[in-house]
Amino acid sequence: MNIAIIGVGSVGRSLATAASRSGHAVTIAARVFEDAQSLAQDIDARAVSSNTEAITGAEIVILAVPFDAVQEIANEIGSHLEGKVLVDVTNRFDPRDLDGASNAELIQNMVPTARVVKAFNTLFASRQADPMIDDIELDGFVASDDDGARQQVLALVESMGFRPIDAGPLTMARALEGMALLNIALNMTNGWSWQTGWKLLGPTS
Ligand SMILES: NC(=O)c1ccc[n+]([C@@H]2O[C@H](COP(=O)([O-])OP(=O)(O)OC[C@H]3O[C@@H](n4cnc5c(N)ncnc54)[C@H](OP(=O)(O)O)[C@@H]3O)[C@@H](O)[C@H]2O)c1
Repeated sequence: MNIAIIGVGSVGRSLATAASRSGHAVTIAARVFEDAQSLAQDIDARAVSSNTEAITGAEIVILAVPFDAVQEIANEIGSHLEGKVLVDVTNRFDPRDLDGASNAELIQNMVPTARVVKAFNTLFASRQADPMIDDIELDGFVASDDDGARQQVLALVESMGFRPIDAGPLTMARALEGMALLNIALNMTNGWSWQTGWKLLGPTS
């Protein structure tokens, strides 16, 4: 698949690495072109100098930026996102913020013509390109109101080495953002090493 990744921080780097390694064509955009170029050289991907250029021809666009940056990017590229699969990886850091709509639902409102999918947020960046723990695949939860978009991202998640879990509609992003926050809080509180990840055990058929 053609994957565009906007942002080259911890998550952008890990997801770009995992996607490229899995045989996808990865295009990267960053605020500073040299940052995108440097990552692209490391992982056999393509760097471009604008977000608009990155999403042209992309089947899946991953926004690997803080939630606070999303509105500005949506203003810039929203008109080019019509019908595109737009992956939201953002998280929340205060349990009081979990009330009401999720970040993913807010992003769907910012870009109503895009097909927003929540994915990868429950995985720390340290795990996004390293999905196995003790020979067990971590789960990659995917939620969206668009069935086709959800299936496409489930396929991406699986190709990157995770067990894909269809979490249902975009409202389930509220639960996924809660799961991520719990993992973050546990690592902060206990001084863990930010390597823990979610695995649902037991029969799934
Ligand atoms: N870190 C994790 O383990 C983890 C796991 C799951 C989900 N997430 C979520 O993933 C997202 C990215 O996290 P991260 O850890 O990769 O953060 P990060 O390392 O701080 O990287 C953030 C990236 O976003 C870019 N950015 C920031 N503001 C921007 C703006 N206004 N316009 C365009 N680009 C902007 C930054 O560009 P510059 O370098 O130019 O500042 C940088 O490339 C967050 O929403 C976070 O909640 C993080």
